[in-house]
Amino acid sequence: MKRENRLIIYGIILCLLVVSISGCGREIPEEEIKSIKIGVTVYDQYDTFVSQLIERFNSYASEKETETGIAINLEVYNAADSQSTQNNQVETMLNDRCNVICVNLVDRTEPTTIIDMAEKNDVPVIFFNRELVAEDLERWDKLYYVGAKALESGIMEGEIAASVFKNNPEADKNEDGIFQYIVLEGEAGHQDAIVRTEYSVSTIIEKGVEVEKLNYAIANWNRAQAQTKMAQMLGEYGNSIELVLANNDDMALGAIDALKAAEINPERWPVVVGIDGTSVGLEAVKNGEMAGTVYNDKEGQAKAMLELAYRLSTGGSLSGLDLENGKYIRLPYAKVGPDDVEEYMNRDSRVP
Ligand code: GAL
Repeated sequence: MKRENRLIIYGIILCLLVVSISGCGREIPEEEIKSIKIGVTVYDQYDTFVSQLIERFNSYASEKETETGIAINLEVYNAADSQSTQNNQVETMLNDRCNVICVNLVDRTEPTTIIDMAEKNDVPVIFFNRELVAEDLERWDKLYYVGAKALESGIMEGEIAASVFKNNPEADKNEDGIFQYIVLEGEAGHQDAIVRTEYSVSTIIEKGVEVEKLNYAIANWNRAQAQTKMAQMLGEYGNSIELVLANNDDMALGAIDALKAAEINPERWPVVVGIDGTSVGLEAVKNGEMAGTVYNDKEGQAKAMLELAYRLSTGGSLSGLDLENGKYIRLPYAKVGPDDVEEYMNRDSRVP
C-alpha cells in the first residue's frame, strides 16, 4: 500500500477511536435516561450532623425519583476517618460508573488524588461540609462545593451568648461584670472550627460584653470527648466557668453530660451554647439545658446537593441553582432560642 493511503487509513482509524471514546459526541437526552448513579462518601458516619444530612439527602433522592421517574441509585460509603480509605472508595465509585461523586473530605487539605481520578474519568465531584481551599476547587471546572456560610455561625453564637449575659444577671455568677468562658473546639484545621471559635468570641466583645478566656479544648465534634475535656476543666476551674462556647451541639451536650456527672445543681450551670440544631441539640434548647444553638441548614444543604448532583448526572442546566462563582452553594444559618425552637423541631422532624 502506498504511504499516503496508509496515512489516510490510520487517520480514519484514529477518528473512529476518538468518536467512540467520546460516546459518538452525543449526550443522552434527559427523556431517554432511565437511571443515574450517585456516589457519596462521608468522613465519619457517626458524626451526628453529617449523618442527619445524609438521611435528608436519601429522602430528597426518593422524592426526586417519584417526581421524575428516573431511578436514582445511591452508593454511600463511610471513610471512617481515613483519607486513603476515602480515595479507594472514590476509585470504586468511578469503576462502578457513578455519574457524579459527593465527597465529605476526611482531610480537607488532601483532595488531590480524588480530583485527579475524577478528572481522568470526567466525573464531576461535589465536595460538601468540609471545605477545601479555593485553589483546589479551581483546579477543574467540574468541581463544586455545597456547605454553609461559615462566618455566620460564629457571629450568631456570639450574639446568643452576649444577649444571655445582658438579659440574665445570674449568668455572671461571680458578679464581676466579665463573662468567664471556655471553648470546646471541633477538629484542628477544620474551616468551621476556626471561624466559629474566632467569631463567637469577637462578636461577644463587639456586643459590649467583657470576656475572659479560662481555657479551651479540642474535642473533634464528639460528645464523649467533650465530656472528658469538660470534666477536666470543671476540675480545674469549677464554678468559675460562666459560659461554654461549643463549636457544635454534640460537644455542648458533652459539656452538659459532664455537669450532670459532677452532680452540679442546674441553677449553678454555666450558660451553654452550641451550633447545628441537630435533633438532640434542639431538644436540649427546648428543655433549657442549652441557652441556644445556631441552625446549620441540613435540609437546605441536602436538597441543594441532590439537585446539583441530579442536574450534573442528567446533563441538565445549572441555572437557577444559586451557584456562587459557578462553583459554590452556601446556605445561611439561623439563631435558635427557646422562643423559636419548636419551629425548628418541626422542620427537623418533617420527612421531606
Ligand atoms: C460542621 C458541623 C459539625 C460536624 C462537622 C463535620 O459543619 O457543625 O457538627 O458535623 O461539620 O465536618
